[in-house]
Amino acid sequence: MNKIRAAITGVHGWVPEDVLTNAELEKMVDTTDEWIMTRTGIKERHILKGEGKGTSVLGVGAVKGLLEKTGTSPDEIDMLICATVTPDMQFPATANIISHHCGIKNAFSFDMNAACSGFLYALVTASKFVESGTHKKVIVVGADKMSSIVDYQDRATCVIFGDGGGAFLLEPTTEECGIMDSMMHTDGSGMIHLHQKAGGSAKPPTHDTIDAREHYIYQEGQAVFKFAVTNMADVAAAIMEKNQLKPEDIAWLVPHQANMRIIEATARRMGIQKDQVMINIERFGNTTNGTLPLCVWEWENQLRKGDNIVLAAFGGGFTWGSIWLKWAYDPK
Ligand code: UT7
Repeated sequence: MNKIRAAITGVHGWVPEDVLTNAELEKMVDTTDEWIMTRTGIKERHILKGEGKGTSVLGVGAVKGLLEKTGTSPDEIDMLICATVTPDMQFPATANIISHHCGIKNAFSFDMNAACSGFLYALVTASKFVESGTHKKVIVVGADKMSSIVDYQDRATCVIFGDGGGAFLLEPTTEECGIMDSMMHTDGSGMIHLHQKAGGSAKPPTHDTIDAREHYIYQEGQAVFKFAVTNMADVAAAIMEKNQLKPEDIAWLVPHQANMRIIEATARRMGIQKDQVMINIERFGNTTNGTLPLCVWEWENQLRKGDNIVLAAFGGGFTWGSIWLKWAYDPK
């Protein structure tokens, strides 16, 4: 019997309406459109506004659209994983909230946190349940309301991040497509360079932590850049080498959208051309767990059954990894 693989059978993305442009950021902090474009490649990002609206709003938008376009009933979903670093609350899991609002009642759902690599981690985890035969329709959501942890007085971080999310539907297949291989890495010593200082159990929030602005992202940009540019490029090249994939075999690279320079370095290392790379950082910025599904959603109509696609990401932790998949369907 052929091996069961996890095929991606649908994708959908969702971003909020409100847009924060570089021109607007120029009025908020000491920055310029020129600096932001040259150093990051970002022009604008979407921001989720509204009292009480959290990451689940982004996830619900993506999942409802996914169910509708794939003609899937919420009752058929038997598992849902949400990759996020900005859960609605410390608990319950945002995945539970998304499932509830989408009418998904027969799934076991939970969150996964691997920072910017979270969508990859969640995708690999979900694929194992599908490959084992225990779960038939699994949703992986990647979503972040980064604006909730961004310090809009810190010019080094506030220009980078945006809000958004996307979701994949995974189903079993015995055809030669779906998730073919993955390489995942973690190095916890990287924590010092990228983290949120307060709000967790090590340093619960107090008036002092709020005054010290410790509930926002802390990032040593240059240090993270060095690790990101090396590790994301290396792991994308490594998965090609491991599977004897040549540059001409690759249809698309789907890179985490953290910085245009990191994306270009990864493509160079893989030996592929820029027009084979999904890039939408200019319009969305870094949506953390949202970047990969938002790319695939935007490129869905250009994908063909059998296309070799490499996904790659690097993020806080440090965490990084790559997935090789074969696309499972032609445009519908
Ligand atoms: O997604 C998760 C993982 N995260 C990443 O992959 C992010 C990796 N890091 C980066 O993408 C880049 O390091 C940044 C975009 C965050 C920063 O770019 P950079 O080229 O590394 O800039 P830098 O931190 O070395 O700063 C260069 C200069 C500094 O001024 P001085 O010290 O040379 O006078 C900064 O203060 O640019 C200054 N600067 C800015 N200037 C205008 C920092 N932010 C800004 C800004 N506008 N927004």
